[in-house]
Amino acid sequence: MEQDHQPFPYEFEEMTQEEKDENKRLYNYPKIDLIRMGPKGYVMPRAYKEQAESIYNLPIRPSDIYVASYQRAGTTLTQELVWLLANDCDFKTALEVPITHRYPFLEIFMFYIEWKKDRLANIHEVEESKREHLINAMQVMTQPVMEKLASMPSPRYIKTHLPMCCLNPTIVDTAKVVYVARDPRDIAVSSYHHARLFVVFDFAGTFKEFWNLFKNNRFPMTPYLEHVKEAWNLRHHPNMLFLFYEELTKDLKTSINRVADFLGKKVTEEQMARLCDHLSFENFKNNKSVNYEGLREFGMMTKDEVFIRKGKAGGWRDYFDEEMSQQAEKWIEDNLKDTDLRFPPTK
Ligand code: A3P
Repeated sequence: MEQDHQPFPYEFEEMTQEEKDENKRLYNYPKIDLIRMGPKGYVMPRAYKEQAESIYNLPIRPSDIYVASYQRAGTTLTQELVWLLANDCDFKTALEVPITHRYPFLEIFMFYIEWKKDRLANIHEVEESKREHLINAMQVMTQPVMEKLASMPSPRYIKTHLPMCCLNPTIVDTAKVVYVARDPRDIAVSSYHHARLFVVFDFAGTFKEFWNLFKNNRFPMTPYLEHVKEAWNLRHHPNMLFLFYEELTKDLKTSINRVADFLGKKVTEEQMARLCDHLSFENFKNNKSVNYEGLREFGMMTKDEVFIRKGKAGGWRDYFDEEMSQQAEKWIEDNLKDTDLRFPPTK
């Protein structure tokens, strides 16, 4: 079905000089360049702006399945679960084909356009046997979204960390969306490690400094709680399934059944046992199709951090001092007071 082209509804704004200076100090990656978008002031890499309208108008197919989240909410776990259920538990393919090939990451280009330019300018530094592989990978990562998705066969599985307001407004009326959310304190800890892991951030500050960026809406795709609320407000739509990381990890079987119901699939006892095993943290850590370790050979990661890291709900307690804990509690309360959204308690 033809969908009408809509102008992108949000304005972009520069960050303040003070914010730009702080970013220069806090990240080792010299090309961090962030702007704000729309009335909520979502923080975006500047490169997003070029494709914002294309993404907003991306034709949606009824067979599409989007896995959406703020980063570090359990996206990879949710993607793998959704893909396996939708593909009749085809574990063989899941183990053979990296999740990045099964699910294009909608907005990945915005983090890698500048990085690609530098890598290409210095391609002689890359081992000759690896150059072609790297060039192909960079090409896929930075390919215009519209082009990349148009050529995909149906059904398409798509990963995004964009807030719902950036996606085609017809998305939930047309396709299926599974959104996963997580306690903001664990998101902050996990995002801190993620920002240290990827060279396009190479975060150099302390956790406390990261937490301040996160809660003051200065980190990409924040304000986090607005991101979650946008999806929460759609949770009763029959094409939207809203999950919490805390529930997925506490009671995986119930979550598997919820996702199966949502996708109209039945799970046998044997499949259930295998799914639980395949999706366990220990197996994920060692599963090359989901642990992102393959990106290391492209020089995209620093050496002391990993993508599949701790896999625990409530781990933030090891990072927050008393003052930060109280601050966080008040921040969450203030930001959720106009909604019935509550994160499941963690110990
Ligand atoms: P931690 O950094 O707290 O360990 P995303 O996929 O959205 O980037 O989320 C990554 C977070 O989910 C990381 O959290 C990661 O360790 C955790 N995770 C990934 N796979 C998991 C699994 N199978 N079980 C539990 N947690 C998992």
